[in-house]
Amino acid sequence: MIFKKKNNSHQLSMYFCIRIMENACFISKNLIDWYESNKRYLPWRDTYNPYKIWVSEIILQQTRVIQGLDYYLRFIERFPDVKSLADADEQEVLKYWQGLGYYSRARNLHAAARTIRDNYMGTFPKDYESILKLKGIGEYTAAAITSFAWNLPHPVVDGNVFRFLSRLFMIDEPIDTQKGKKYFIELAGKIMGDSKPGLFNQAIMEFGALQCIPSSPNCQACLFSTNCLAYNRQVVSNYPVKQNKTKTKDLYLYYFHIHWETFTYIHIRKEKGIWQNLFEFPLIESEKIIKPEELIKNFIFPEFITTENINSFRFIIQNRKHVLSHRILYATFVEVFLKEEPAIPESVIRIREEDIEQYPVHRLMEYYIEKQINRTRENGIQENGLFPEL
Ligand code: ADE
Repeated sequence: MIFKKKNNSHQLSMYFCIRIMENACFISKNLIDWYESNKRYLPWRDTYNPYKIWVSEIILQQTRVIQGLDYYLRFIERFPDVKSLADADEQEVLKYWQGLGYYSRARNLHAAARTIRDNYMGTFPKDYESILKLKGIGEYTAAAITSFAWNLPHPVVDGNVFRFLSRLFMIDEPIDTQKGKKYFIELAGKIMGDSKPGLFNQAIMEFGALQCIPSSPNCQACLFSTNCLAYNRQVVSNYPVKQNKTKTKDLYLYYFHIHWETFTYIHIRKEKGIWQNLFEFPLIESEKIIKPEELIKNFIFPEFITTENINSFRFIIQNRKHVLSHRILYATFVEVFLKEEPAIPESVIRIREEDIEQYPVHRLMEYYIEKQINRTRENGIQENGLFPEL
């Protein structure tokens, strides 16, 4: 049987609905059967605990299952329940999140745990609407928690589900718009029908993750090969469709790893944004590239580091690219050796070099620390690149 979608309006057309209703049972039953024999063993599938499901879903929003697994196990070991997370210090939570990126998710997780502790006596709320009100929980996460923990009929639609459904029915509705999301949620809900919601949701996501993969899926071996419109028309790679309107802006970050004796200097990022409350070296941010000559001529923070006080410097990493949803960052790290102890501004703190790993830092800092500080530890600090005559 071939399913047909009649038009591209964001609401499912009557004709399309009828065809789906006729076939929903076939699709959901096959997905669930396939899941039972092909699913991966994953610890968050072994539980009905909404807290653990919530943590796993937030971690999996930003990393692949393989990488997410370690983070999940470490996080749950340290914060086994809502109370332990709510009672923890934010800095510690961020430290456990380090490397995953999108730190606002960890902050939201922490804030929501405090809401549950304070407003719900530590017991996870059970209804969809209350869960949706918690910080950092959107429709997808609320659907995942309620369906996996309590079998409530809320369809989850993640990237895997978008891909599978858009190919199966050749849906041209872009998946990166509100309208498109609504469309797919409605469609997934119709297919879910009366089947067990938790099982169905796991099955459809797993099918997208393992069988209906983004590139070069093995469609011949797919149990929906005779039904899949995109496969039958040889246009699988055209789906899902994206509108892709997000414009990215370039931002250049120049970090200064300053040495004085055995100390270095860091500050905490206070501004709102994804790296809020994470530590980093003092930096200059610019929307335009700054040439190395200019950078060292304009060195650097007049009230903190003066050119006279610089013994030597060297560029360690230049223009390391880091892609965020709305920004492309290019990070340069300059190591600076001082002659004398600097007077430090209030926002900056002096720490021992070896203590830097105790502070939660973002991915770029982490990359630098791994590369540079570990190397320096092995070889000892080496100065080179004498400060030029200006
Ligand atoms: N990705 C998002 N949620 C997931 C889950 N529960 N299992 C596997 N992969 C996922």
